[in-house]
Amino acid sequence: MLEITGLSVNYGTIRAVRGISLTVARGELVSLLGANGAGKSSTIKCIAGALKAAGGSIVLEGQDITAANPEQVIRAGLATVPETRDVFPDLTVAENLMLGAYIHRRDQAGNRQNLERLHTLFPRLAERSNQPAGTLSGGEQQMLVIARALMARPRVLLLDEPSLGLAPAIVERIFEMIETLKKSGLTILLVEQNVNQALAVADRAYVMRLGAIVASGTAEEIRSGSDLSAHYLGG
Ligand SMILES: Nc1ncnc2c1ncn2[C@@H]1O[C@H](COP(=O)(O)OP(=O)(O)OP(=O)(O)O)[C@@H](O)[C@H]1O
Ligand SMILES: [Mg+2]
Repeated sequence: MLEITGLSVNYGTIRAVRGISLTVARGELVSLLGANGAGKSSTIKCIAGALKAAGGSIVLEGQDITAANPEQVIRAGLATVPETRDVFPDLTVAENLMLGAYIHRRDQAGNRQNLERLHTLFPRLAERSNQPAGTLSGGEQQMLVIARALMARPRVLLLDEPSLGLAPAIVERIFEMIETLKKSGLTILLVEQNVNQALAVADRAYVMRLGAIVASGTAEEIRSGSDLSAHYLGG
């Protein structure tokens, strides 16, 4: 479904991602783990088309999207929830959601249908449709950016640290929602610092360190790997 081969990302002379390869099969939930600065977000931004690859390739369902811009990537079927959790604060929840449906703006009936489905998944957002997004709690804003990404009707969803900075009860809800999305057949690449919870929902995982992948395997294998904490905490 998503095949990344030898991908590199540089910031000037800083080599943030150093030739990593990873795959996500259809319907799979794959977690990308690693300490702060490991290169996880750089990888996500590059797949999303927000950063240019310095080398390697990104192929989505057989289509080469390595040089695609963000809109082309979304049109190819891949949506991203970046770690910055940006909502348009002065726009209402409903307006924020409709922006996510930009590429389907001529299909209003389809968008209404998708919105109804998302309101079932995120009842809180339904209740707050007409409220400015800037007045939502942190957890609600995270739900909103995920729902907004889903308005693009992606087949693959990239999530960059959706649980970051949220209270444990809200984190629990986010992970439940991720499981629901997986059950619906969505293919997911999940970046997380919350290793235990990420491995609980993931089929497989990769561990990054200093721009490279240092471990990969099933969630079970990664969980039982004695070197995980060393890789993880070692930065
Ligand atoms: N805009 C930038 N300019 C220069 N260096 C950057 C830039 N963005 C990231 N880096 C560097 O690239 C490396 C990887 O950063 P990245 O944000 O991808 O890590 P990360 O794994 O997502 O970390 P975190 O868990 O803290 O979000 C780091 O050394 C970081 O300092
Ligand atoms: Mg990051």
